[in-house]
Amino acid sequence: MEKQALLYEGKAKKVYATQDPQLLIVSYKDDATAFNGLKKGVIQGKGVINNQMSNLLMAELEKRGVPTHLVRELNPQETLVKRVSIVPLEVIVRNLAAGSFSKRYGVEEGLAFAEPVLEFSYKNDGLGDPLLNDDHAVALKLATREELAVIRAYALKINRLLQGIWADRGIILVDFKVEFGRLADGTIVLADEISPDTCRLWDAQTREKLDKDRFRRDLGGVEEAYRQVMERLSSGL
Ligand code: TMP
Ligand code: ASP
Repeated sequence: MEKQALLYEGKAKKVYATQDPQLLIVSYKDDATAFNGLKKGVIQGKGVINNQMSNLLMAELEKRGVPTHLVRELNPQETLVKRVSIVPLEVIVRNLAAGSFSKRYGVEEGLAFAEPVLEFSYKNDGLGDPLLNDDHAVALKLATREELAVIRAYALKINRLLQGIWADRGIILVDFKVEFGRLADGTIVLADEISPDTCRLWDAQTREKLDKDRFRRDLGGVEEAYRQVMERLSSGL
């Protein structure tokens, strides 16, 4: 399968057409941005790590009943995926307070919730990805009620599965963001990526941050953190 026209270039990935109209090639970049593109940088080796980690995790999720866009890894930085139309929602699941939740509600990072908190943001950089509820999403025709129910159930299942995978490796899954897409027949599948760019991962012993917050907050050791989580994930999968 070979890359044809560049269809889309985002902040962290490029998407190419292929000979097959139902398949696309995703190419992961080392570029990193934060705060809606205001902060820019490069995380050496991130493209390879995010591609490989996302594929390992999506393959595990598929095995356990979550449909995904994954077809196969083509090379360390590129993957063949099913073409979807992205549901313009950022689906966030939180197990501990952090980031925008802590800021918005004035609670300390690290506060553990009794149950996971699921939230939707409208995927719209121009508006700064505003938080929205089911009624807003339906009113804006971003998704139907039925699709929202499917998305919610998958997101919570993904949380349970990923929490287990990371816990086995001494890592706390604090929160994460996923995106879903529709196949040509309307089936909802997990799309986009699952990586240290899109998850908060803390060492269970030391609570050290092992994710993109090291870049967002200028904590240093960004590359080392990405390498470490990838190493811990590959041991034993
Ligand atoms: P938040 O606390 O900043 O809302 O982030 C929640 C989770 O979503 C966190 O794991 C990081 C991830 N995330 C993204 O994947 N993309 C984004 O643009 C933002 C703001 C957060
Ligand atoms: N990727 C997002 C951006 O540039 C933000 C983030 O991950 O913090 O803006």
